[in-house]
Amino acid sequence: MKKERVGILTGGGDCAGLNPAIKWATKGLLDEELCRGCGRKFEVVGIRNGWGGLLNYNPGKNGADPDNIQPLDAAMVRTWDRLGGTNLYSSRTDPLKTPDREKKTIENIEKLKLDAIIAIGGEDTQSVSHALVQRGIPVVGIPKTIDKDLMGTDYSLGFATAVEVIMQEIGRLRTTAGSHKRIFVVETMGRHAGHLSLQGGIAGGACMILIPEVVFDINRVLQIMENRKKNGARYDILVVAEGALEKKRGEFKDTDKHLDVDFGHVTLGGVAKFISNSIAKEKFAEVRSVSLSHLQRGGEPSQVDVRMGRAFGLAAAELVIQRKYGNMVNLRNNLISFVPLTDAIRKDNHGKTILNLVDVELEYDTERYIAKRQSLGMKMN
Ligand code: F6P
Repeated sequence: MKKERVGILTGGGDCAGLNPAIKWATKGLLDEELCRGCGRKFEVVGIRNGWGGLLNYNPGKNGADPDNIQPLDAAMVRTWDRLGGTNLYSSRTDPLKTPDREKKTIENIEKLKLDAIIAIGGEDTQSVSHALVQRGIPVVGIPKTIDKDLMGTDYSLGFATAVEVIMQEIGRLRTTAGSHKRIFVVETMGRHAGHLSLQGGIAGGACMILIPEVVFDINRVLQIMENRKKNGARYDILVVAEGALEKKRGEFKDTDKHLDVDFGHVTLGGVAKFISNSIAKEKFAEVRSVSLSHLQRGGEPSQVDVRMGRAFGLAAAELVIQRKYGNMVNLRNNLISFVPLTDAIRKDNHGKTILNLVDVELEYDTERYIAKRQSLGMKMN
């Protein structure tokens, strides 16, 4: 029996949880028990460098292209669920950005004889998945982003590990903040969504958390922090999301970083520095700022991302086996399931992707700039 060939790739920013998903999607597809009854057999190839691997596939005489393609089997992926990052590498390449790229990508999918693709990624990656499905290519998505801003799922890989990192790093900062009686302003990732800062800030015990969903007023921040100092706070930790907006200044762009011409996102950063400079000017406390930056994406997966990677990887394999293409696996009300890819990448009337944002009404105290103190009825995951 001719084996069907499934390609797996990881796109966008790396994070913990990708390797467990690759491992279990591979093992699921190669599991004879799982495939019994479907009358098909599979082989699995890893596509390196995200969608870039498909675009740049350039085989030698024997069809191999180790820069872009890596055959996967159970022995190869055996230990991958212990590892952070992505062993298939990643990129922010949009393979459909120009008609030339599109032509090359579709030709390469044919050259590689791919019968299906499993794409692990966030909004950008899944928008390409969807566009390929519309062009008749069978794709299944797995949600990944530490920002947790992807619609259509209650969980996306990488989030729990990133929250864990924030908590640990705040723990480290707390000892030095305490020793020097300082305020630390800690900047987290998350783009335009505040989940990471809010949950990381809660886990780390921050006294103030600023999220992009609620525009903050620097004067109010200063007033709250000064009052805390007057009331005896020896040190304080303030967490701010990179995408937080100040009433007068608006968004903070990081002009030192240049990236992402393909999907056209602005690079955010600098808000923590702005807040710490503002506190320093008022002289009521010593202050330092830290951007946790890519530490949040690094390291080994936490138990949540190992287990969720396994569940999502296996579910994606099942969707391929059942030929349920054009879907993304998801977590909904604690159940592993799937939704049409279109649910993950819905656009608003201005053509902007709708993001999964913090439910301010339920979760955030807009006066005190902190997580709400009521939790009855709150969604946890
Ligand atoms: O989307 C994930 C994310 O980690 C964002 O939170 C952050 O703004 C961005 O990626 C950073 O991207 P890069 O790794 O390209 O610097």
